[in-house]
Amino acid sequence: MRLSEAEIAVHWKEEAHFRPLSKFIGQANLTDPAVMERFSEKNYPECFREYADLLTWDQYWTKTLDTSNAPFFKWFVGGKLNVSYNCIDRHLEKYGTKAAIVWVSEDENEPDIVLTYNELYARVNEMAALLRDFAGLKTGDRITIHMPMVPELPITMLACARLGIIHSVVFGGFSGEACGARIVDSGSHVLVTMDGYYRSGKLLDHKINADIAVKKAESEGQKVEKVLVWKRFHDKVSSPTAMVAGRDFFVQDELKKFRGARVAPVSMPAEAPLFLMYTSGSTGKPKGCQHSTGGYLAYVTATSKWIQDIHPTDMYWCMADIGWITGHSYIVYGPLALAGTSVMYEGVPTFPDAGRPWRIAERLGVNIFHTSPTAIRMLRKLGPDEPNKYNLNFKCMTTVGEPIEPEAWLWYYHTVGRGKAAITDTWWQTENGGFLCSTKPAIDEMKPGSAGPPMPGIYPVIFDEHGKEIPAGSGKAGNICIRAPWPGQFQTIWGDPDRFVKNYFAKYNKDPKSKRWQDWPYFAGDGAVWAADGYIRILGRVDDVINVAGHRLGTKELESACLTVPEVAEAAVVPIVDEERGRVPEVYIAIKPGVKTDPKEVAAKVTSAIETTIGKIARPRAVRIVPDMPKTRSGKIMRRVLASISNHMDYGDITTLSNPEVVEQIRVQVQGTGPVEKKTAPEDIRRFGETT
Ligand code: WTA
Repeated sequence: MRLSEAEIAVHWKEEAHFRPLSKFIGQANLTDPAVMERFSEKNYPECFREYADLLTWDQYWTKTLDTSNAPFFKWFVGGKLNVSYNCIDRHLEKYGTKAAIVWVSEDENEPDIVLTYNELYARVNEMAALLRDFAGLKTGDRITIHMPMVPELPITMLACARLGIIHSVVFGGFSGEACGARIVDSGSHVLVTMDGYYRSGKLLDHKINADIAVKKAESEGQKVEKVLVWKRFHDKVSSPTAMVAGRDFFVQDELKKFRGARVAPVSMPAEAPLFLMYTSGSTGKPKGCQHSTGGYLAYVTATSKWIQDIHPTDMYWCMADIGWITGHSYIVYGPLALAGTSVMYEGVPTFPDAGRPWRIAERLGVNIFHTSPTAIRMLRKLGPDEPNKYNLNFKCMTTVGEPIEPEAWLWYYHTVGRGKAAITDTWWQTENGGFLCSTKPAIDEMKPGSAGPPMPGIYPVIFDEHGKEIPAGSGKAGNICIRAPWPGQFQTIWGDPDRFVKNYFAKYNKDPKSKRWQDWPYFAGDGAVWAADGYIRILGRVDDVINVAGHRLGTKELESACLTVPEVAEAAVVPIVDEERGRVPEVYIAIKPGVKTDPKEVAAKVTSAIETTIGKIARPRAVRIVPDMPKTRSGKIMRRVLASISNHMDYGDITTLSNPEVVEQIRVQVQGTGPVEKKTAPEDIRRFGETT
């Protein structure tokens, strides 16, 4: 076993620390250094009362944390509240005329759409009436939403929340088939979509994906009764794809019947599910992470307030997509629960040029900015001096989704932030609801490349493969786990509670019958090192998940897509290091014996199969048709060896393989016959393939 890799020493240059400016500290929401003491273990779990108290409860809760069915933990038990009420209604008196959402089209000639809290209230109510009275949906039903970045997306989500309908938003860039698979898993009878949207200057036909999704769902026994199609432009249809009579309806047309409708927010139990968010894991099937109403909202509200430092007077822009968890927590629910103003941008950050985000920030007076390391790397590469052309005034800026290299961090800090903005590097996952590690911007020093200390009330531990704790300051990497539950944690995997336990808790649980949270450390699936100064550096996934531009793709999902091509006998997908996107997938294919075919043609079919079943974001860097896969004697494909070849690393000992000779053949095919510069690979690449 190579599992001791988890313990290999990790060396990196200690980076300088940076301090937030006193001007920032003077206005910040969280400045009390005693916060960590307040949230220390001796005050757990009651410390999270402070988070819950940021919300308006219809009925106050009686029990903070219920562990009686561990690891299915319940927060704020007995409490009732409504998320849409908390994000809209309760702000109306004071902030009714203030902007809740400012939407920016990708087309620079199209005017912004500004929704005040009053208008958001009206539109969410009308949509809720439509969902209830036209679509026939009720509390507890699931609905799938496959939409681009338009104001109608949060409107639809909040309308669901108003009625306690569980939404499952599928990233707009995912293919129709991927959407269909999620419709089936969630058991949705209604799909909400949009006719078209702009992407890199092109108006894309999105309605066509709905037809594919419905067909795919029906082929697996899930009937979609209604497809609700928002029009991108209110006064015209933007898709050539025909509407299916009796099934497809334009939302704007139907909404006319609900003008002025008001729908009372349904008082939901704190532990009722609010939404599902599908993410990739180490099996082929995406997991529907089920998030709660009370715990989730409390957690994202508090972390938006403390880490992103959102005040109602700020202009806050998170440049993520709502189709990912970041967008749910930090474009929609967290900022709106705080009566913030949340900017939404429809398009590609570098369209039409790398100055676009800075033009938007300057024009709107954005003072809080949240984005991914991939976007930073891309903007820096294409327009290193662009930020200097604009009047930028960020007070704080955050990053999320991937480790950020110190050089990219320093550019973000000096060139975008002008050395004035406090930067936080936030580490967390779809499963977690909100931030787990981050510096507290007005309290902690920043250290490029490190996510920072744990958030208040989050108690991490780094274990080796055998469950032995790796102490902070040892310079060794291990598997990061969180010892105690927190309110933002997902409740289960939709329809698959066993997988929830097995995937996230079984590894370090010693007593499966235990009702104590102490026995159920949450296994995050990331490698990490804990420095002596208390800062945690995340090294990347330790499972078979590839983090492409901050988006999680399961290698098994990609491989099953490849196997839909008839000529393909075997497929293996490995991550390779990419300067901009962090990691990208590379595919190895063995063709069925006896099949005569042009390898180029098969490679093209494989790429197209991946795009059809998952989406363009999963497009592989290369598809390599090889004579055979390197295999163990028991017939397992050695993905580790392939990953080493793709990344120009030493492939190590291969003598135990059943076909060691093929390894050199593949190496020459990938790297050529000349001398090859050996690279040292990052931790996640070195560990890749250990578990399969
Ligand atoms: C990675 C995104 C380093 C990590 C919110 C995690 C990070 C996966 C960071 C979750 C960070 C996220 N530094 N790595 N600040 N943030 N990751 O579910 O590997 O799309 O497990 O959630 O992204 O991705 P997900």
